[in-house]
Amino acid sequence: MMITKPRGTEDVLPGEVKLWQKIEQTARECCDVFGYKEIRTPVFESTELFNRGVGETTDVVQKEMYTFNDKGGRSITLKPEGTATLVRSYIENSLYANPQPTKLSYIIPCFRYEKPQSGRLREFHQFGVECFGAESPETDAEIISLANTFLNRVGIKGVSLYINSIGCPVCRKEYNEKLKAYFRSHEDKLCETCKARLEKNPMRIIDCKSPICSEIAKSAPKIIDYLCEDCKNHFDKTRSSLDNLGIGYKINPDIVRGLDYYTKTVFEFVSDSLGAQSTVCGGGRYSGLVEELGGKPTEGIGFAAGIERLVLIIKNQGLESENEVTPEVFLAAIGDSAVRAAQKTVYELRLLGMAAEQDLCGRSVKAQMKFANKLGAKYSAVIGDDEIANGKINLKNMKNGETAEVALSADAIYEFIKKAERELE
Ligand code: HAM
Repeated sequence: MMITKPRGTEDVLPGEVKLWQKIEQTARECCDVFGYKEIRTPVFESTELFNRGVGETTDVVQKEMYTFNDKGGRSITLKPEGTATLVRSYIENSLYANPQPTKLSYIIPCFRYEKPQSGRLREFHQFGVECFGAESPETDAEIISLANTFLNRVGIKGVSLYINSIGCPVCRKEYNEKLKAYFRSHEDKLCETCKARLEKNPMRIIDCKSPICSEIAKSAPKIIDYLCEDCKNHFDKTRSSLDNLGIGYKINPDIVRGLDYYTKTVFEFVSDSLGAQSTVCGGGRYSGLVEELGGKPTEGIGFAAGIERLVLIIKNQGLESENEVTPEVFLAAIGDSAVRAAQKTVYELRLLGMAAEQDLCGRSVKAQMKFANKLGAKYSAVIGDDEIANGKINLKNMKNGETAEVALSADAIYEFIKKAERELE
């Protein structure tokens, strides 16, 4: 019986991979100009990192983690996100000893046991960045402008930026009391998970995925109305910083984000080309996470964009323009010595950096030429006994059918094709 891929996972097939490479390339180019250096971290971490980092009352930790004991009896979790891991690495590798801020970027697979639907997978990929050790509101604007630049350069349209501030432990004290009082008056209708969250972390109820809880949450008090002086100032300055950069946004007081570590600025980029899973990129500031995970008090801020969601938008907007590389030349061969000559010349062309192909399936000459056409080869030639004896081939331009006599050598074929390309430019 055929074995199929696990639910909520995807194969990215050749063809589509080009799109991924373009997205990844765009991410790297943006990080280069904004000064965010790539970091690579393990796919799995100690479960404790996410329990403490992401938060015990989040959906991610309570319901969605891929957690198992390894053969040594350690509890291991496949990364559900990147931020906690980067904080761990920042502390463990003493990156704080470098001149601050430390600006890092990553492209990683993430794993969450969610109910799969369009744009929501159990294995998905994120491009993310984190900035450690910078408190200024200009940092918030830098992070948001990096996300904005990336999404623009990927070429998608119809993306809106929403921002909010969710305050700090100081402003949350009063707010949490108001929130508890509000949700207590609806307690009987809340889902079981949210009933348990009510006393511990009532803000988590606001982004519960259950339709009844989210309906109740709509009329809940908003944190933005309870910000302390410091958080209010930070938010105002972040906004004027965004205005200074000409980045448009709307304030959405309902954004609280699904992970516990956020403080102050939070933001989401939402696409009008996705269905229910419309957030393509999300992030925010986290002022307590480095300390929570054993480091010195250090500010952090970052975002992550879902690559599968970007691919969906690009496809929905008909923007796929990346083509696979096609062979410059196909060498067909008749007979054993011709096959050997074709094999050697194709190999030498490849060593020169030119995409070259030959038949590997024992096709007839006619079938080899048909195959060359299918591959989209720009030039082709047939090698037989005569060509080997004369040391010359007829190189055919597959577009216009013109042929030219060229020596049977990689150097000569390479030079001929490069010269023809130069003349076309
Ligand atoms: P997040 O909002 O949980 O934030 O995820 C970021 C992005 O990953 C989402 O906006 C979405 O595009 C994508 N994503 C999330 N879950 C799935 C899924 N099940 N299937 C497909 N795509 C998904 C974080 O993970 C934070 N670590 C972001 C951050 C970095 N905050 C500060 N620094």
